[in-house]
Amino acid sequence: MSSTGKKNTQKQEKIVSMFDNIAPTYDTANRVMSMGVDKSWRRKACDLAYGYSAKDTIDRIVDVACGTGDMMDFWKNRAEKQGIAIGEIVGVDPSNGMVNVARKKYPKFNYHIAKATEIPLEDASADILSITYGIRNVVEREAALKEFNRVLKKDGLVVILEFMKNENPSTLGKIRDFYMNKILPKIGGFISKNLEAYEYLPNSIGDFSTVANMQNELEDAGFEMLYTKSFSMDISTLLIARKKR
Ligand SMILES: C[S@@+](CC[C@H](N)C(=O)[O-])C[C@H]1O[C@@H](n2cnc3c(N)ncnc32)[C@H](O)[C@@H]1O
Repeated sequence: MSSTGKKNTQKQEKIVSMFDNIAPTYDTANRVMSMGVDKSWRRKACDLAYGYSAKDTIDRIVDVACGTGDMMDFWKNRAEKQGIAIGEIVGVDPSNGMVNVARKKYPKFNYHIAKATEIPLEDASADILSITYGIRNVVEREAALKEFNRVLKKDGLVVILEFMKNENPSTLGKIRDFYMNKILPKIGGFISKNLEAYEYLPNSIGDFSTVANMQNELEDAGFEMLYTKSFSMDISTLLIARKKR
């Protein structure tokens, strides 16, 4: 393995072990830190994707970086509200700790312990693939986007919710950055007793892609952009793209 490959592997292992460590307190910290606003972003993501898919029967939805499973539950509940039948919802995440929590909360979904770059599902077998607050933790992002393309059916949808890097923040954006860089890590660190893990959050956003860059990467991986919007002082960005090749 090349030295970059080795470094990436080590970086990725460190991230996954951090999630293993914070898994037991992840949901509590998340609830306090997000104050519930993420729910409206998740609902919006599901409703828009169901609208774009325009199907009343969906064979498979894959939630990559599923963590403790909440996005899978949104997919299920929003589908029920709209009378959409779903064959299977599958969660994929390399952290045993996070998936163990998900399994207890949502035993009816199926799970795989695996990275975004090695999804153990057949080619062209999913209608929708989501990754919510997960893509910034994927060290080999380009390989992961190709893998998403492989797993999706032609015209399948990739749905990304993420905290994106903001290059020219407005005054409101600066307030957001202060909150996310200085206040949030302290709250998460206090609840989880793991300050290092929560200091990683703003660092990972700082290092992460801008919205324009992410759109280009999706297009390079064979997707056509359908929707991009940032919500709540640009804290969270939703991107939806369709597999075109
Ligand atoms: C911030 S949590 C988000 C969990 C969940 N999607 C949500 O919306 O609450 C990030 C998740 O990414 C997972 N993760 C880290 N590296 C990954 C990788 N290479 N491939 C897939 N998931 C990964 C972590 O284990 C963790 O569960």
